Amino acid sequence: MLSTTNGAPQRTALITGGSGGIGLELAKVIARNGFDVALVARKRDTLEAAAGQLEGKFQIKAHVFAADLRRQDAPQAIFDFLRNENIPIEILVNNAGFGLGGEFSETDLDRELEMIQVNIAALTQLTKLFLPAMIKRKSGKILNVASTAAFQPGPLMSVYYASKAYVLSFSEALAEELRDSGVTVTALCPGPTKTDFASTAHVGQSRLFTLFGVADAASVAEFGFQAMMQGRRVAIPGARNKLVAASHRFFPRGLVTKVARMAQESR
Ligand SMILES: NC(=O)c1ccc[n+]([C@@H]2O[C@H](COP(=O)([O-])OP(=O)(O)OC[C@H]3O[C@@H](n4cnc5c(N)ncnc54)[C@H](OP(=O)(O)O)[C@@H]3O)[C@@H](O)[C@H]2O)c1
Repeated sequence: MLSTTNGAPQRTALITGGSGGIGLELAKVIARNGFDVALVARKRDTLEAAAGQLEGKFQIKAHVFAADLRRQDAPQAIFDFLRNENIPIEILVNNAGFGLGGEFSETDLDRELEMIQVNIAALTQLTKLFLPAMIKRKSGKILNVASTAAFQPGPLMSVYYASKAYVLSFSEALAEELRDSGVTVTALCPGPTKTDFASTAHVGQSRLFTLFGVADAASVAEFGFQAMMQGRRVAIPGARNKLVAASHRFFPRGLVTKVARMAQESR
């Protein structure tokens, strides 16, 4: 592991989608807690602005790497960049992701395949690449950003909900494989949160985003960071979201699916 000038270990967190929304707030709380950060997103100017903001506010180094996780070669390029720069990763935050609303029979397949690439494949590949060094060091943390969407099927946003079910299932299984290894895996499952997500997914008018309040990204990130540091396997911020996540235990899956559909419909 690298050392800082005062001899303390230089610890770096890689955060995908770290230039905005929940990812940027995670980068802030991680930086505030003394970690260097490496931010990944597509737009270099937004990345550099975020890095400047973090370096200005906290005594840390913020690296940036512009990459489009819709591309299959992006995870390897990120890994190679950090290895060439000799930046070991202590915390991997797989946060980048997006959704798409609409009836599956009418939505754009290319966009959905890109979603599967970003939400599922890139997250899996990045974990595969960065995990071996963590296991070797017997130290590391992985925070995968899932969603309350992970807990039930989501009519009118079917591929997105299914992608987050993958993230939750994969994270919990991996956490169990890694028990006693010194490496922890946490699935953060936010409910509706104030970011660009809803407009990107065309679900801003859904009951989910309009009927009840939406959380602010900073409090979701703070909650996720604490859960990750404690090594918790599943982290659901907010009482209402905890209820949503537990509903499948008390009600038939068909009913839960109907309620999810109502939540996805516009008011
Ligand atoms: N907001 C919610 O209501 C909510 C609820 C539950 C879960 N989540 C999950 O939280 C995570 C973060 O979402 P958010 O709400 O913060 O969304 P956001 O505000 O849209 O931020 C997305 C971030 O990911 C980056 N990004 C998007 N596509 C990318 C790509 N192809 N390659 C690399 N970077 C990419 C964006 O930067 P560029 O555009 O520059 O690439 C940005 O930094 C997602 O996994 C989402 O599914 C969100």
